[in-house]
Amino acid sequence: MKGIILAGGSGTRLYPITKAVSKQILPIYDKPMIYYPLSTLMLAGINEVLIISTPRDVVVFEELLGDGHQLGMKIEYAVQEAPNGLAEAFIIGEKFIGDDNVALVLGDNIFYGKGFTGTLQDAAKLQDGAIIFGYYVSNPEAFGVVEFDRDWNVLSIEEKPKEPKSHYAVPGLYFYDNNVIKIAKTITPSARGELEITAVNEAYLKENKLKVELFGRGMAWLDTGTCEGLTEAASFVQAVQKRQSLYVACIEEIAYRQGWITKEELITLAQQMIKTEYGQYMMQIANEEFTR
Ligand code: G1P
Repeated sequence: MKGIILAGGSGTRLYPITKAVSKQILPIYDKPMIYYPLSTLMLAGINEVLIISTPRDVVVFEELLGDGHQLGMKIEYAVQEAPNGLAEAFIIGEKFIGDDNVALVLGDNIFYGKGFTGTLQDAAKLQDGAIIFGYYVSNPEAFGVVEFDRDWNVLSIEEKPKEPKSHYAVPGLYFYDNNVIKIAKTITPSARGELEITAVNEAYLKENKLKVELFGRGMAWLDTGTCEGLTEAASFVQAVQKRQSLYVACIEEIAYRQGWITKEELITLAQQMIKTEYGQYMMQIANEEFTR
C-alpha cells in the first residue's frame, strides 16, 4: 500500500500565523505538524509516500524530509495548484499510486492512542473497498458525518451538515483500493467548488464497499484548526512525552523499529540533533533494549 499526505490549503483560519508559511509546518510542541500524519502512515507499515502541497509550500516539505532515504523510505512530492478538494489527491497522485491501494492522511490530522498501530496495520491489509473511521465529537457540523442505524450499519455520510445526523465525525485518514482513482475522476465539485472526499466515500457506500470503524474513548484525534487547538495539541504531546519518556511521532524511532534503518543510521540521525531533547531521545532509543 502507498500513502499520500495532503498538506495543502491556504490556512486562512489561522492568519496571521499562516500568512507566509504552511500550516502543516507549524510546530506541535517539539516537531513540525507533518511529522504526526507521516508517523501515522509509517505505523501502518507504509514506506512509499507522496506529499502534496501548494506551489508555494511544497519546497519546505522537501527541505524537511528530502527523498526519505534517511528513514529507509521513498518520499515524493507533488503540487496541488489550487484548493480543489481532498479527492483531487488521487488524480494528482495517479502515477504514484500505480496499481496499488492507497491511504490518505490529511497533513493537519494528529492521532494518538492505545491500539492505534494495530488498527492501522489491519486497515493496511485492505484488499477491496474502503475503510474510514468514526470519532465521537461535540461539533460534528465541522466535519464529514456518518449516520448509523441501530445495528451500526452506515446509512449516510454528509459533508459539514447543518443538522448532523450523529455525533460521529470522519477523521482525515482514509484507506482505499485502487478504484479510488477512477472514482475521484467521476465525482463532481460540491457547492463550495471542491472534489469532496465525502463524495468518494458515498460512492463506496453505494457499492456497499465502505467500512467505518469507530475509534473508542481512549483515542485522541486532536484539532489543529484554531490557535487554541494548536496550543492544546502541543500541551497534550508535551504531557504524554514527559510522563512516559516515550515520544509521540518520532519518525526516526518508528523507522528504526520498523527495521527500515539500522542502529548506526539512527545514531547518525541523532547526532545531527543532539543539542535537543528530541535528538537525545533518538540516541537513547538506539542504545536501549526495545520498549513496548
Ligand atoms: C476535511 C473533510 C471532512 C473531514 C475533515 C477531517 O474537512 O472534508 O470530511 O471530516 O477534513 O479533518 P476540511 O479540512 O476540508 O474542513
